[in-house]
Amino acid sequence: MTQKFKVLVTRKWPNLVEKKLEESFDVTLNKNDIPMTEEELMNAINNFDALLPTVTDKISDKIISSNNRKAKIIGNFGVGFNNIDIESAKKNGVVVTNTPEVLTHCTADIAMLLLLGVARRASEGEFHVRKKEWVGWRPTHMMGTKITGKTLGLVGMGRIAQAVAYKAHFGFDMKIAYFDPYFKNDEIRKKFDATPFNSLEELLGCSDFVSLHCPSTKETKGLINLDSLSKMNKSSYLINTARGDIVVEEDLVTALDNGIIKGAGLDVFEAEPNVNPKLLKFKNVFLLPHLGSATEETREAMGMRVLENISKFFNGKEPTDRVV
Ligand code: DGY
Repeated sequence: MTQKFKVLVTRKWPNLVEKKLEESFDVTLNKNDIPMTEEELMNAINNFDALLPTVTDKISDKIISSNNRKAKIIGNFGVGFNNIDIESAKKNGVVVTNTPEVLTHCTADIAMLLLLGVARRASEGEFHVRKKEWVGWRPTHMMGTKITGKTLGLVGMGRIAQAVAYKAHFGFDMKIAYFDPYFKNDEIRKKFDATPFNSLEELLGCSDFVSLHCPSTKETKGLINLDSLSKMNKSSYLINTARGDIVVEEDLVTALDNGIIKGAGLDVFEAEPNVNPKLLKFKNVFLLPHLGSATEETREAMGMRVLENISKFFNGKEPTDRVV
């Protein structure tokens, strides 16, 4: 019997994928789902052929550059890979893969849920009913903001943004605008009758809803700060399903406190799982705990994608989703 490659999974995965993984590899699972420490991750990279982390594991230069490193591939469970020091992986010749495509629609659904939730005051209304505060229908009760026909400004025009554009445009008759200096696909632009903007400021000024869909990079960290928030309309909402550190949370609090924008829908935060306590006081902020890809179907598909990537790698082929 040929020896199986040793792989380590850092968090609990859906059962089906854990079983599949065990058919082809010598797998160490994290059944208790307790986040691993830096030391444990270091031990893992030194003792396994593949490390399979997820977006909550910080795979730093210190870990990747370990003198005793055995792992040649890091198969990230997640499309975003800002948890991994990519420069270090490049420098050390470590292959990194991610899980694009399979989570596009579910993440776009959560962006729409946040947009609808904050504009139509869904969480406020739900609490109202549960707390038995509802005294009956009345013409001025819990009036929100109409969505149909409004302008949705997308920051970034990649796969998830396009899925949001599709749902918003064809489902809610929204006008689509975007800012993405790297996006040049005119066919897709035409499909949504979308308006491209050459600057973030212009996009912010013309949008009723601003939805973030860029990765967290040196360029985008803190992109949404007091200065940019001040360029938004007082009646507009900010939606974030991308990464928490694209928004300076303290500046968002200031903007909400001063009525600079009307509300926000957030699925991601600067220091997850800690949410800035000041955000919790706002009724006009709709909060979710990083649920973008959290459906059974998608989480299974993400795991299968990691399996496909490492299987190809160990069979001497190019992994489909190689990042470096
Ligand atoms: C990702 O994949 O990057 C998400 O944030 C987790 O689904």
